[in-house]
Amino acid sequence: MGLESLKARILRSIKPTDEEIRFATYRANEIIARLKAATPRNVEIVTAGSVARGTQVRGSYDIDIFLLFPRSQDERRMEAEGLAIAKKIVNKRRGESFAIKYAEHPYVKVSFGDDKISADIVPAFKIKDATEIGSAVDRTPLHNEFVNKNLNGRQKDDVRILKAFLKNHEVYGAEAKVRGFSGYLCELLIFNYGSFEGVINAFSKMRLPLIVNVGNKLCIDPKSAEGVALEKQFKSDFVFLDPTDINRNVAASVSQRSIAKLALLSKSMLKKADMKTFSGPKYSTTMSRDRILALQKAMNIDIYLLAFKSDDIADDIVWEQLVKFRNRLGDLLAKNGFSPLQSFQNAGNGTCIVAFLINKSETGSVLLRGPSVFMGDAVNAFSGAHKASFALFLENDRVVSLDKPRYSNAHELLSGLKRNNNVTIPSHLKPASSFLFVNSEIPESYAKLLYEAFESARIRNL
Ligand code: UTP
Ligand code: MN
Repeated sequence: MGLESLKARILRSIKPTDEEIRFATYRANEIIARLKAATPRNVEIVTAGSVARGTQVRGSYDIDIFLLFPRSQDERRMEAEGLAIAKKIVNKRRGESFAIKYAEHPYVKVSFGDDKISADIVPAFKIKDATEIGSAVDRTPLHNEFVNKNLNGRQKDDVRILKAFLKNHEVYGAEAKVRGFSGYLCELLIFNYGSFEGVINAFSKMRLPLIVNVGNKLCIDPKSAEGVALEKQFKSDFVFLDPTDINRNVAASVSQRSIAKLALLSKSMLKKADMKTFSGPKYSTTMSRDRILALQKAMNIDIYLLAFKSDDIADDIVWEQLVKFRNRLGDLLAKNGFSPLQSFQNAGNGTCIVAFLINKSETGSVLLRGPSVFMGDAVNAFSGAHKASFALFLENDRVVSLDKPRYSNAHELLSGLKRNNNVTIPSHLKPASSFLFVNSEIPESYAKLLYEAFESARIRNL
């Protein structure tokens, strides 16, 4: 099947139906009417995001409504007032509820108790251009204007196709768990490369560094003085300059892995443009424990899983703490001779896990390198600290010690975690009294989180 007819087929399943658009419009207008009644006259209310731009994907978007305050106001006061207004319009008796969320900036998510589209109400400053910027989200109305002025209907449909493609392959969204392509970046990619096919073509041949001035669709030579300066300014080799603000890299939170994954996916699409490649892998997480144990046995390794309850705070913060913890623990394991083959992390419903795949091995002895004998008393300090050494030797001028290892296996290291402070457990992660599980000890609920992480980390169709 050609890409053109595949796109037509995809659009039939992901473009919002007329009925859905009518409902979203009705709901947006109804909330705006409520907000108008609760908002001072100098605050402007506008719809933003994908609903205002016609780039939303059927069934998976939100209504973004911005409260634009005068730029002269204090930022903290603007935030507080905006949140207070948003909370005031929630009608609890009708089953509505709200949650305060934090992205770069606090906002209120309103749910309507009907499982249908929810609304994000975001306080921001009203600005004419980026030079007036006062808070992280002030550019959003400028983004609306850019997209509506520069993308035609066919291209907006291509944005929907690109978003759905990235969602299917778990690289859509800027949140910490994904570090993928945001909605606005998708819009800019379609503008810059002209179409979905254009994006796929470009990514299939991608070379980094890539620095693009989206405003004039200009690819800046990374070796030129300007390119070098921009790479340095943004500390990144993947830069899409915001056409509404030259000092902003819209791709700032895209990970190398996400870029690489889209490059692989693009190659697959060019090789075989079919519904299967577009839709991505389907896997079931029933009986995850059995699936994990089958892998563990086939690979002849051990799987260590640590489980935590997390504080009730922003998902991104918990995720970042898990990343740090997993890296630190991975380093410590490696330093002691138990290098993880792979490690995974996942979080859901207040529970999180980190897991390590490690070869079955015992360490009998370790060789520790000491100082040079020409370094004053350092040698005495070293030998004093290694009283239990099996033997000391000289390697050239340095003393080395053959010692009993601190941990003879990964289990010893990991089971002592809560007692010794070789690795501090991050502040928002709460280990229970039993939190280390090995192989068949892993309960189904944690195995599910691990299996999901395993499947979403894997790449296929190479
Ligand atoms: P959304 O995350 O809702 O994205 O942010 P979206 O474009 O509407 O995409 P979907 O369809 O809901 O997934 C709304 C707008 O807020 C701005 C962007 O202009 C975005 O389009 N925004 C959002 C930022 O400028 N920075 C952010 O970190 C997040
Ligand atoms: Mn949105």
